[in-house]
Amino acid sequence: MSAELIDGKALAAETRARVRDGVAALKAATGVTPGLGVVLVGDDPASRSYVTAKERALEEAGMRSVDIRLPEGTTQGELLAVIARLNADPEVHGILVQLPLPKGLDADAVIRAIAPEKDVDGFTPVNVGRMLLGQECFLPCTPHGILRLLEKAGTPTRGAHAVVVGRSAIVGRPITNLLSRKGAGGDATVTLCHAATPDLGRFTRQADILIVAAGRPGTVTAEMVRPGATVIDVGVNRVPDPTARNGHRLRGDCDADVAEVAGKLTPVPGGVGPMTIAMLLENTLEAARRAAGGARHVH
Ligand code: GUN
Repeated sequence: MSAELIDGKALAAETRARVRDGVAALKAATGVTPGLGVVLVGDDPASRSYVTAKERALEEAGMRSVDIRLPEGTTQGELLAVIARLNADPEVHGILVQLPLPKGLDADAVIRAIAPEKDVDGFTPVNVGRMLLGQECFLPCTPHGILRLLEKAGTPTRGAHAVVVGRSAIVGRPITNLLSRKGAGGDATVTLCHAATPDLGRFTRQADILIVAAGRPGTVTAEMVRPGATVIDVGVNRVPDPTARNGHRLRGDCDADVAEVAGKLTPVPGGVGPMTIAMLLENTLEAARRAAGGARHVH
């Protein structure tokens, strides 16, 4: 392997320690304990494990998590009633509805129902609009984590050509916007590729920064990467592995031999995933600070 691995786990640990200090300071100054409502509908194993990891991180940071588990057959009305209750609860400063929701539920309507000041995922139309306009908002956690990883890796974005693979509302579209913003962490020229892009390699080979968020293992192979590029692998794919304790292992969207070509690379697991959780904690602390009427912290 020639690529230097970008250690998301270590960066997330530093970030979480800073958040823990911030939580303690907020409690001491105002008596407010940051609280996050965490809503999981159904029992998708991957979603369950993400939610458990988020709840554990909240607890470690000294925050309160209000865990809400709803069965697969929950109706839209029942779910909206839960959101309304969390919106009205003064001890809940942030609300997270784990996506995807089971079939039959309208995720857009559910997200729209979240009060924007509690939208620590940055998914509501109000937050997305603010982000697009460059106004103050909660940045979505995975793209925000990617910006921190690039900074940590020492990969400049200004003047770089960033190529994003995947156009999801959670990762691809927001990171495309953030990298093209004016100022620190932005000023990149960005190309957004997706399932309808012909000859993907023609684009990815031009990338100084390659962000792969397609949700499909093997999306990027070694010959699709420019030697020395910084590659951020956002994929978290469960592949069967009979030798593993739980019968599966995690694979990113990049083939293993991308590490032979890239200059810097995020591992899976241990790259983007831990930073997503760390950014959620930061946003929840910020939401609690605002609710407590304290000074705004700019990260
Ligand atoms: N599903 C995949 N990523 C995320 C995330 O960052 N937040 C939520 N709520 N659901 C997700």
